Amino acid sequence: MKNFKIAVIPGDGVGQEVIPQAKRVLEKVAGQHAIGFTFQDFDWGADYYFRHGRMMPADALDRLRPCDAILLGAVGHPQIPDHITLNGLLLPIRRAFDQYANVRPAILYSGVESPLALRKGEQIDLVVVRENTEGEYAQVGGFVYHEQPEEVAIQTAVFTRRGIERIIRFAFELAVRRNKKKRVTSITKSNAQGFGMVLWDRTFQAVASEFPDIRTESLLVDAAAMNFIRRPESFDVVVGSNLFGDILSDISAIIIGSMGLAPSANLDPLRRYPSMFEPVHGSAPDIAGKGIVNPLATIFSAAQMLDHLQCEPAARKIETAVAEVLAGRKIRTPDLRGKSSTAEVTDAVLAQLG
Ligand SMILES: NC(=O)c1ccc[n+]([C@@H]2O[C@H](COP(=O)([O-])OP(=O)(O)OC[C@H]3O[C@@H](n4cnc5c(N)ncnc54)[C@H](O)[C@@H]3O)[C@@H](O)[C@H]2O)c1
Repeated sequence: MKNFKIAVIPGDGVGQEVIPQAKRVLEKVAGQHAIGFTFQDFDWGADYYFRHGRMMPADALDRLRPCDAILLGAVGHPQIPDHITLNGLLLPIRRAFDQYANVRPAILYSGVESPLALRKGEQIDLVVVRENTEGEYAQVGGFVYHEQPEEVAIQTAVFTRRGIERIIRFAFELAVRRNKKKRVTSITKSNAQGFGMVLWDRTFQAVASEFPDIRTESLLVDAAAMNFIRRPESFDVVVGSNLFGDILSDISAIIIGSMGLAPSANLDPLRRYPSMFEPVHGSAPDIAGKGIVNPLATIFSAAQMLDHLQCEPAARKIETAVAEVLAGRKIRTPDLRGKSSTAEVTDAVLAQLG
């Protein structure tokens, strides 16, 4: 019997609705695969902020550290500026636990319509690997003449050779492990950003030389955005900086049919700290509280968590069950043009799990 302590942060908006569904699925597969979960729930997020003036307590990271993994819903509230919710919860966790690899797979499942008109036989099965600890989100900078007419804001991107090298190496190793198209695409903007992105390009070439069996391409981020639409089937592993990976993974999420199907893992590949698993989507205030949010992105994220915890058969079982529900075309939430509720979709997944 494998036992795991999982920190659970439902967070805000639809995060509160999708996390209980993922827990139902995890509890079901746990029973089938001799896995024991102890869930520890944390009520951090916007409501906590309204009560305490901060998104999570001062000792939050110490409380998360002993856990085996973190399951997160989403953060974000219309009455709190997004830079506060992001910098008050999500980014400190990613940085403190050195979750430097943000892995966002995008698979077009049978039975789901892409908004793109794909040619027959073309499939979308790619994964965006986003650098998750530095780059444009390093939060280095400041204001001069704060709130004066002559105000200046400086926002610095931080690129380290170590940070770039480890994420690019992770991407190549993932391409080897996936054993699919054996291709890594690097996302750059070195034509306009002549320092950080030049170091990125040089490092990409150096790491690529260690993987002669993997084909490579380097795309400017604007060309990549176009090619995610024009030839999504050509991509395998795509590696980008924090900002570029963030933006491109929203494109990859929507071309597979819905934001509600896109999972995300924030990994410390060296396993020194807990890794964190969350859907790509945010707190979706426009649909929160209606019981119609698609829970599948979070359920897929739970499967990613099982993979990381080396419970691969349980992870595959969840993915297969979800794929069968989608292929059935009957039970689906309104984002996939269905009429089912969040709970009904999970019920269908549980039924498939047997
Ligand atoms: N990781 C995170 O916690 C995260 C990520 C992105 C945005 N946010 C925050 O979330 C808030 C809302 O941001 P947003 O509206 O730009 O992005 P969003 O991802 O919350 O929603 C974008 C659109 O997709 C729809 N959508 C998203 N997830 C869905 C699901 N599972 N099922 C059905 N439809 C779904 C929403 O209804 C909305 O129309 C903001 O405060 C933002 O900062 C948080």
